[in-house]
Amino acid sequence: MNQRMMQITVLTLFPDMFAPMQESILKRAQEARLLEIKLVNFRDYATSKHKNVDDVPYGGGAGMLLKPEPIFAAIRDLTQPCGKRRIILMSPQGQVFHQEKAKLWSEQEELVFICGHYEGFDERIREMVNEEASLGDYVLTGGELAAMVMIDAVARLIPGVLGEEASAQEDSHTTALLEYPQYTRPADFEGRQVPDVLLSGHHALIKRWRRKESLRRTFLRRPDLIKTVIFEADDYPLLEELALEHVEIAPWKTFWEHLLPQPKKRGTKFEARGSKVGVPPSLKGLSEE
Ligand SMILES: C[S@@+](CC[C@H](N)C(=O)[O-])C[C@H]1O[C@@H](n2cnc3c(N)ncnc32)[C@H](O)[C@@H]1O
Repeated sequence: MNQRMMQITVLTLFPDMFAPMQESILKRAQEARLLEIKLVNFRDYATSKHKNVDDVPYGGGAGMLLKPEPIFAAIRDLTQPCGKRRIILMSPQGQVFHQEKAKLWSEQEELVFICGHYEGFDERIREMVNEEASLGDYVLTGGELAAMVMIDAVARLIPGVLGEEASAQEDSHTTALLEYPQYTRPADFEGRQVPDVLLSGHHALIKRWRRKESLRRTFLRRPDLIKTVIFEADDYPLLEELALEHVEIAPWKTFWEHLLPQPKKRGTKFEARGSKVGVPPSLKGLSEE
């Protein structure tokens, strides 16, 4: 099978900051030609005698702004894209980066990150980018750390970069649920025991335990994510157990009541309504059905 290579170009005034990209998994990905990271110092495109890349803001105010000419010239000098290219401006004013965005970008053939510095950019630089992305609602001194975090999150989703594809599929945020707790040897560390079920070798029980712990973690740590979780019919008993175990979880019951197993018309077996439902239907609708 032909593996595709993703091209990542970073426009930065501080290329040395990207040394961590030459370690570990990203290093191996580049050696395997799954990924190429090219660092472009846009100061090289400044035409003034002193290679200035910044200037004072019109209208006054603190700090210096990145001038448009060097960044425009660096972008224009990029080789013609051989596939899908996305130009992304690192900016605290952009949409906050998340796992879904990492997945979308990992499907591109080329990503170009522009790292700002100083007080920000001349506004016209924004015209030449596809999007602005923020690492979070705080202000960094420059875009380099943000770009590195985003590149790392994207790179591990490129097919072949992680040894086992499955290890990315079960990650927190990939399914809207946080990942379940994980343990490795020893089974007993200074009296702290690995849960018995994980030592049982009983695959169905392990799967049930992991799903329940994922649900527990998400409810307790990140209730803001619950609205995006797609519950499955098999979650019903787990959720009922969790509601009894945690007073914080009980008030969410309306989110899974639609999964309540219904008696079949004939026979005594029970079956769940709809296997996958994202939002809870109204309780009134349910009782009328
Ligand atoms: C000191 S900041 C400038 C912030 C600017 N005055 C503003 O309010 O938008 C310098 C540069 O760091 C980068 N930066 C700062 N915070 C960031 C964040 N949360 N996410 C991504 N990049 C950020 C951007 O490239 C920004 O142009």
